[in-house]
Amino acid sequence: MATEKNMHAVDGLRLGRPFQVRRLGHFGINVASVERSLDFYERLLGLQVSDHLDFGPRIPEALKAQVGPSVGCFMRHGTDHHSFVLFPQAALHASNPHYGAHPHLNVNQLTWQVGSLREVVQGLPWFESKGSKVLRSGRDTPGSNWHIYPVDPEGHINELYYGIEQIGWSGHSKPMALHGIRYMQPPELPHRSEYAEVNQAIAQGIAIDAGHRRREQAQESFDVGGVLLARPFKVVKVGPVRLFAQDAQAMLAYYTDTLGLALTEQADVLGQRCYFLRANTEHHALAICPEALRTPLGMTHNRSLLGFGLQLGSYAQLRAAVDFMTQAGYTPIDLPPALSPGLGHHVWLRDPDGNAVQLYWEMEQIGWSGLPRPAEQRRIWPSQPSLWPEQVDAQTDSCMGEVFLGPLN
Ligand SMILES: [Fe+2]
Repeated sequence: MATEKNMHAVDGLRLGRPFQVRRLGHFGINVASVERSLDFYERLLGLQVSDHLDFGPRIPEALKAQVGPSVGCFMRHGTDHHSFVLFPQAALHASNPHYGAHPHLNVNQLTWQVGSLREVVQGLPWFESKGSKVLRSGRDTPGSNWHIYPVDPEGHINELYYGIEQIGWSGHSKPMALHGIRYMQPPELPHRSEYAEVNQAIAQGIAIDAGHRRREQAQESFDVGGVLLARPFKVVKVGPVRLFAQDAQAMLAYYTDTLGLALTEQADVLGQRCYFLRANTEHHALAICPEALRTPLGMTHNRSLLGFGLQLGSYAQLRAAVDFMTQAGYTPIDLPPALSPGLGHHVWLRDPDGNAVQLYWEMEQIGWSGLPRPAEQRRIWPSQPSLWPEQVDAQTDSCMGEVFLGPLN
């Protein structure tokens, strides 16, 4: 409980810590084969590659021959430069000693947006004072976001950031030449604006449209809300993320007290207590589930990621996505509905690495009172998608929460 003495003034607001997490901004996984995963996440699910990053130069010479391809992908569903990343696991483990100490990690990072550059900078001493190691700080290239990377008690790399690059109408990422300064620590404040940075680049003659632009391989033949797209649905949000925890209480304390997420609900899943935490009004952005749940869930791997969600634009899109993915060979798998309190209709798929990926459309929204919807008022639906009706009644919060901005593609 925060007392007057340990409150922090953040832009005129007294808070329990010197920043306020606003949303899960991006999330990533380390995978056995980026190319194989792209077939699932890019070709089928429609996430768009915004940039590549080669980890090759960071890999010790002696290990280079063993690790295979070393290029990872930044991906997006909207205008944020990345909302998802696919990085090559072997290359990352060879180039980053953090993974040596935490070989079970296949989560690349859990990344939280805060309100300002000052909140990022003030976060660094905060995490260090809480004994949370901060792996690095400064600014991401590509992506342009100012950040710090604090580590949770079980090794997951979190990131707090401000100001991620926005990809606009032309679809081009910032060219690498625009990242003239490499920031490896928090900047002096106040820092010049992005407008001023771009002005300087233009004055220097840098071609501002020289950055990466995606290529859609598939025919745009599906009507999605009146727009022709290459698949019959659109991912509009990444998350929630669900993690296995060796010590769920320690993880809960970290994500609430240190990082500042709010506990929406705790629930028993197959006899194990799970914790559902929110960053904003969504029922949860993160779930912490005890390691003991792994076997009852039938998950034979030893990775720390239980699974994660991708929100689609509507109920009709979800139904179409189930057919589309089934035709592509990805048949839904069974996981208990208790893992997903607050979510409407959904299915779980297994990605090429065996990660559980949840497609859903509706997420309960939590307002000023902080109370979730009473369980008896929640939507009930058959788990078998073939039994879902063509239409369902709207609930008060069916269309609420984070809004997708801009054209669908
Ligand atoms: Fe990041």
